[in-house]
Amino acid sequence: MKNLFALSELSAVDINNILDEAISFKNGKEFRELQGKTVVNLFFENSTRTHYSFIAAQHNLGMIDTNFNASASSIKKGESLYDTIKTFESLGFDAFVIRHPQNNYFKDLKGINVPVMNGGDGTGNHPTQSLLDLMTIKEEFGDLKGLKITIIGDIRHSRVAHTNIQVMKRLGIEVYISGPKEFDDGSAEYIDVEKAVKEMDIIMLLRVQYERHGYEIQMSKSDYLLKYGLNMERVKKMKPSAIIMHPAPFNRNTELSDEVVECKKSRIFKQMANGVFVRMAVLKRAFEV
Ligand code: CP
Repeated sequence: MKNLFALSELSAVDINNILDEAISFKNGKEFRELQGKTVVNLFFENSTRTHYSFIAAQHNLGMIDTNFNASASSIKKGESLYDTIKTFESLGFDAFVIRHPQNNYFKDLKGINVPVMNGGDGTGNHPTQSLLDLMTIKEEFGDLKGLKITIIGDIRHSRVAHTNIQVMKRLGIEVYISGPKEFDDGSAEYIDVEKAVKEMDIIMLLRVQYERHGYEIQMSKSDYLLKYGLNMERVKKMKPSAIIMHPAPFNRNTELSDEVVECKKSRIFKQMANGVFVRMAVLKRAFEV
């Protein structure tokens, strides 16, 4: 069995193998060996893409999904995450997908003997999001080495940014960050938005995570868009081959204007589609010896 907690645990070869497998699934590869295996999806934070693309991936593989409802469970009586997962293991379930607000929650799961896949932990890791981002970039450009990306926005609170910055640097992508200085946590070199727009192969926008930090930045949505967001005026300054990404959900007319969401350069919905294939590859890997 193979857990997937953080991409830092995987070699570049492992990562490329997952991406190649995901691309094979996208190209129609059949795989029935997980048919009938049971998986519990436990989301302790809201999710649309990660949760439901894991479900789609499970259905595509013939797996049987169970979706945990924390608010109707014994978590409400004080049961710990470990005891909850151990309970499901003892009931005979074969695998778990977990999203949890606590950074590195998976460090508390050392006694679990079935695979766990991390659907996001606090501001720490979001491995399957980064994998689907890498898949989308690989499909677009082929080789990742030498590409330039700027991730713009709420870097400090973003598990997507933290995971992507680490893994992308490791795979030879030149990574920059931009956006409000309050969100610069020093995890990559800072670059001005206007310069980034002209020079990058990829502009990745992040959502302002109002629910994590309230209105820490005292700025209206329209001011944010003007200073740090992508509108069509900025899109027109991008290189002809450059693309726009966003892990979503996005705040329309904050980090990007309405017209940018589905403009020619946007790969936002392609990222979501690729999420299903990446998660199929991750589920397949989870059961490998
Ligand atoms: N990108 C992402 O993780 O979206 P959800 O929160 O909807 O899963």
